[in-house]
Amino acid sequence: MHIVNARLRQRSELFELKIDNGVFTAIETQTGPIEASADQLDAGGKLACAPFIEPHIHLDAALTAGEPAWNESGTLFEGIERWGERKPMLSEADIRQRVIKTLNLLIGNGVQFVRTHADTSDPSLVGLKTLCALRDEFKDKIDIQVVAFPQDGLLSYPGGDRLMEEALEIGADAVGGIPHFEYTRELGVASMKRVIELAMKYDRLVDVHCDEIDDPNSRFLEVLACEALFNDLGARVTASHTVAMHSYDNAYCSKLFRLLKQSNINFIACPTESIHLQGRFDTYPKRRGVTRVKELDAAGINVCFAEDSIFDPWYSLGNGKLLRTLDFGLHICQMMGYKDFSKALSLVTDNSARTLNIEDRYGIEVGKPASFNLLEGEDDYSVLRNQGDVLLSVRHGETIMQREPAKIVTPPWIG
Ligand code: FE2
Repeated sequence: MHIVNARLRQRSELFELKIDNGVFTAIETQTGPIEASADQLDAGGKLACAPFIEPHIHLDAALTAGEPAWNESGTLFEGIERWGERKPMLSEADIRQRVIKTLNLLIGNGVQFVRTHADTSDPSLVGLKTLCALRDEFKDKIDIQVVAFPQDGLLSYPGGDRLMEEALEIGADAVGGIPHFEYTRELGVASMKRVIELAMKYDRLVDVHCDEIDDPNSRFLEVLACEALFNDLGARVTASHTVAMHSYDNAYCSKLFRLLKQSNINFIACPTESIHLQGRFDTYPKRRGVTRVKELDAAGINVCFAEDSIFDPWYSLGNGKLLRTLDFGLHICQMMGYKDFSKALSLVTDNSARTLNIEDRYGIEVGKPASFNLLEGEDDYSVLRNQGDVLLSVRHGETIMQREPAKIVTPPWIG
């Protein structure tokens, strides 16, 4: 494959991209636009960007909203309750068909890497087993990491610790946790220490649903970051949500940030999900309930955006379009300056790659797998503004998705 007239992020020139055996073999600047030959692909000045990454989603629950009942209150806790009613209906066939549908939605929107959580508060572990099987089955089409996620508590759910070990023995890629949902603060702290212990025992990544509550006293993030620091695991550890940080007082946050920086852990914010689920116990003013993305980013701490849900008991919208999540996230986090827009795509690409520990095989660089999207725009800013669909998605040098750009047939133009 040979692409001409492509733009790259943070560069103003046009580029030629040469691909052989699924790998970028040359990336060369052009002096101006080139007439593409029959065997070349003309990018037309559009942005070639590393694939989108969905770093936090619950594929086992996707497409189950309203089954058997809707989450009417819109709270996280009613979501857990509704999911608890859906869980007994889970089967391998049910999960497979919903996950495949959702993966196709993601692939159609330029996503080539996914980190999914799999609920392990289930003695059958059917969700985790099915997701691990699908991960292996579709590895040529999409990269999937499976997090063993103890939805009802690692230590509070009967047998939760044993189920977590079983999940890791089956092959989960990461250990999860939910300290704010454990029965007591003490159990929450103990669960964080246990998560790190298990990650070291099985040599796995860590991704914790951490402090997903508007309670300013929910402070398990400091425990997780401290354990990561003391065990030198930082880059392999992720704190998802951390929405309580929105409600921490600034003096505590100032102290906390010192630890967060030293620990080198990653953060995932889910702006659409969190602004929907959080602030539900407030009257007015209502908190936005999203972690301090702008401040984390400014402090040099790695943070990325995720959708979290697609039509499930916690969030009954969602469509696999990370540009939508990015648009919402920048608004909600008040990251609306020119500099923010100019590097916005990092929040759904490069930063997410760092979180997933896949930087060695991600990005448009000679020697790396030739995987990229062609986007509607010439730079981060215009792609964000256009909110266009992904035009082309190439994986390891093979086209896996291509679409015609939408166009108005009868122009309503005036003047
Ligand atoms: Fe989640």
